[in-house]
Amino acid sequence: MSTTSLSRLSVSSLLPPITPKPFRPAPTALDYRRRRFPGACRAYKVTIEHGDERRTIEVGEEETILGRALAEGVDVPHDCKLGVCMTCPARLLAGTVDQSEGMLSDDVIASGYALLCASYPRSDCVIRTIPEEELLSLQLATAND
Ligand code: FES
Repeated sequence: MSTTSLSRLSVSSLLPPITPKPFRPAPTALDYRRRRFPGACRAYKVTIEHGDERRTIEVGEEETILGRALAEGVDVPHDCKLGVCMTCPARLLAGTVDQSEGMLSDDVIASGYALLCASYPRSDCVIRTIPEEELLSLQLATAND
């Protein structure tokens, strides 16, 4: 064996090739609950339209649409995740959600608006994200009533 051939070896040539793994979201509390109590939690298909992206994800009735969307890698606007800052506004195009924990006025909710961080699906849904200003102007108008 010559010393010349050894000097040409690099560490990377000795290692197996690296194959990137597909993205897998971290399991949520709902995932663990589903595994432990199969059939105990209902889940709905929620289609989220954000910009040019349209993704359908499965959201459990006990998790927010925002929480599941982020866990699935859907990059939608958000900040507080508490239903307070209004940076996750959306228009509910089809289906129903429970947003009793959010701070939107009843009139705004009845008009078909929702905050993703405070929305729990109660049926299959289609939701489109909207600019923050659209929801803010409506919410402020109803607050003055
Ligand atoms: S993230 Fe703040 S209201 Fe939804």
